[in-house]
Amino acid sequence: MIIRNRTQVGIVGAGPAGLVLSHLLYLKGIESVVVENRSRQYVEERVRAGVLEQGTVDLLVEMGVGERLKKEGLVHHGIELRFEGRGHRINFEELTQGKGITIYAQHEVLKDLNSARIAAGGQVYFEVEDVSVRDVAGSSPKIRYGKDGADYELTCDFIAGCDGFHGICRPSVPAGVLTEYGREYPFAWLGILAEASPSSNELVYTYHDRGFALLSMRSPQISRLYFQCRPDEPIETWSDEAIWQELQVRLACEGWKLTEGPIVQKGVTGMRSFVVEPMQFGRLFLAGDSAHIVPPTGAKGLNLAVADVRVLARALESFYSTRSQSELDNYSRTCLRRVWKVQRFSWWMTSMLHRFPHENPFDRRRQLAELDYVASSRAASQALAENYVGLPWD
Ligand code: FAD
Ligand code: PHB
Repeated sequence: MIIRNRTQVGIVGAGPAGLVLSHLLYLKGIESVVVENRSRQYVEERVRAGVLEQGTVDLLVEMGVGERLKKEGLVHHGIELRFEGRGHRINFEELTQGKGITIYAQHEVLKDLNSARIAAGGQVYFEVEDVSVRDVAGSSPKIRYGKDGADYELTCDFIAGCDGFHGICRPSVPAGVLTEYGREYPFAWLGILAEASPSSNELVYTYHDRGFALLSMRSPQISRLYFQCRPDEPIETWSDEAIWQELQVRLACEGWKLTEGPIVQKGVTGMRSFVVEPMQFGRLFLAGDSAHIVPPTGAKGLNLAVADVRVLARALESFYSTRSQSELDNYSRTCLRRVWKVQRFSWWMTSMLHRFPHENPFDRRRQLAELDYVASSRAASQALAENYVGLPWD
């Protein structure tokens, strides 16, 4: 037996895209149901992004979920580019008329969103199984799923595929409709979370002979650090001591010391650029990582997911208030303008800061010249700064 229900917008995935969309719709008086195959605890503990653009912060605050973020988030007005053992500050405040970024972990954003959804009586179902979407080309698309031994069918006006890169929504679109663009990078990041007070007040992006390294943080007590490694790097072969040793070498800078501490989490993350066009089919709308992936060097993935659902929420609001479908029809076109600019920026940061397996001495000189140019030219550092803090909303 199937238990049948109805809602206005069915949302697959309770990541940043799904939860921000659900809460934005609630604030506009539109009902939604979110189905998520992981547990609430897993979603709220998974270590991922940490950098929020100014626009993302402003939106979360406007949505009423910014209280803890405002209290605990670390506001930064610049980053450091480090190469040839020297640091060069990119001053966002001066270059972007006072804008900045906020360091606040993705899973903390998700905790705040889940609490807000639940306090508002929102329907977010965790640990669902066998999710599938059907009839997306028609006017009554459906989400089927299992929960606690029962089968459900949720009939919706629209479905939002917010289920990440490995989700089921994108593959549900009939063959031949979507065009995929992408590239994989011949390296990955080995990332750690450490109980060590951050050795710098701002993020440090380092280009080194042995490869890229990044110093980031989560709080005044917790550092988040990454370094470039092989895509198939076996994490088990890296002792904590060897990880610190590698970071010490790559981040070394005169008159500066990297503080070490117990490593509480470590992992290897692959890098890819990926875009699907269009980001919609019938009444199914893809948002966030289900439609595009960026390499993490620009710190953009979460922010881009939020930008998509902001456009989608507005288009759905326009549909329900005027019955006009034109904003929904334009959803993909509107999002892709930002998506491709963010793809370009993330690819550019990645190309400038990493060592490539088949590069030659010319490539290395060119990368150093590019870093020197970015660090010394106001025009070039301004281009980095305005992308890093986030391009204006459409
Ligand atoms: P996700 O967060 O992947 O959420 C999708 C959800 O859908 C998940 O909860 C998943 O469990 C669920 N799901 C999947 N399949 C199904 C199914 N069949 N049924 C139901 N539910 C399903 N971005 C930044 O902006 N700044 C950063 O600093 C940054 N750093 C990063 C560092 C690392 C190590 C990594 C891995 C990523 C980083 N990112 C960063 C990227 C960012 O984390 C992602 O872009 C972001 O999570 C995308 O959000 P999303 O909601 O689209 O997808
Ligand atoms: C992080 O803090 O996890 C982080 C910061 C900057 C990046 C990527 C990840 O570019």
